[in-house]
Amino acid sequence: MRIYLDHNATTPVRPEVVEAMAAALRERWGNPSSTHAEGAAARAAVERAREQVAELVGASPREILFTSGATEANNTVLRGVLAGPRARHVVTTTVEHPSVDEPLRALEAEGVAVSRVPVGSDGRLDPEAVASALRDDTALLSVILANNETGVLQDAAKLAELAHARAIPLHLDATQAIGKLPVDAVALGADLLSGTAHKLNGPKGSGFLVDRARLALPALLQGGPQERRRRGGTENVAGIVGLGVACALARAELEDRHRHVSALRDALWDGIRARVPRVRRNGSAEHVLPNTLSVEFEGVAGEVLLEALDLDGVAVSAGAACHSGSIEPSPVLLAMGRTPEQARGSLRFSVGPSNDAAEVERVLALLPGLVARVREAGA
Ligand SMILES: Cc1ncc(COP(=O)(O)O)c(C=O)c1O
Repeated sequence: MRIYLDHNATTPVRPEVVEAMAAALRERWGNPSSTHAEGAAARAAVERAREQVAELVGASPREILFTSGATEANNTVLRGVLAGPRARHVVTTTVEHPSVDEPLRALEAEGVAVSRVPVGSDGRLDPEAVASALRDDTALLSVILANNETGVLQDAAKLAELAHARAIPLHLDATQAIGKLPVDAVALGADLLSGTAHKLNGPKGSGFLVDRARLALPALLQGGPQERRRRGGTENVAGIVGLGVACALARAELEDRHRHVSALRDALWDGIRARVPRVRRNGSAEHVLPNTLSVEFEGVAGEVLLEALDLDGVAVSAGAACHSGSIEPSPVLLAMGRTPEQARGSLRFSVGPSNDAAEVERVLALLPGLVARVREAGA
């Protein structure tokens, strides 16, 4: 049996989600825009899912815009707020996911000014530094709420306070936090918030944007009246239904999941620390997702250790999954002041609700020998 410890990359789809999606494909195949009974049945399924998403993230259903995932949600925000002749200034961080970083680089080439506030060695932002980056012409503050590589959390309420004092909207990429922690858009002060189904046991290719700001963002995809003209294209009904069920399950199980994964993650770190010499945890141990552990194994080529673990049946990640195949050191770890060698020696373990203590024990039994072997081979 394989041991999957890469839940920040993606998660297994829950049987309840598969069932609901299969039923939607069988029975709700109408076009939600059609006015006949078949269309109305599909529309009802989409609107039920909208309520389920809204309930999980503390928004009203009207504020939910369905997308193909968090990448599209992030692009919708950044392009919508910043593209065009009134393009001004945006404040973000040095540890964003590529789905924020790359659109911002493109916008920068089009003349938008981008300020990237650095994080400390613990991966956290200094609110003072954010405050001093905000300008009179700042159109948006966009921050990753929970980092995908380290799990480090930012103080969203504080950021909202700073942004709102200057009437600047706050966008949170909450993709990694949703389903792992309570994420309430109102409590966090988020005007815009991105999420995706596949990080919370839902399907890939289905996500959402919460738009509380009523900024009248132009549609990224034009070509139809869907989503109240905010996103053209016939809705992915089964994907949306799967997202809704995944959100409902997450809401019902949030506390249990938190308790379960944090106990496993802590046992993993305690075991690694006790059994493997020359290791260091990356990022704040206090302000962090309950399931995530980023560890630097000094003197180790992370990709070699990852491969050795994979051959022994354990799936983890070196840096972000989106970067796998390249052995570039993680920009997130570099931004936290790690050297390229330290970043290359780092692995991310991300636990999920379906893992158990026996799996953690098995990984702990394997790691010391594998690390010693990889260190020896590299020496
Ligand atoms: C923080 C963060 N933002 C955005 C994304 C992109 O989400 P999606 O795969 O739904 O486009 C991911 C997933 O890799 C992520 O971890």
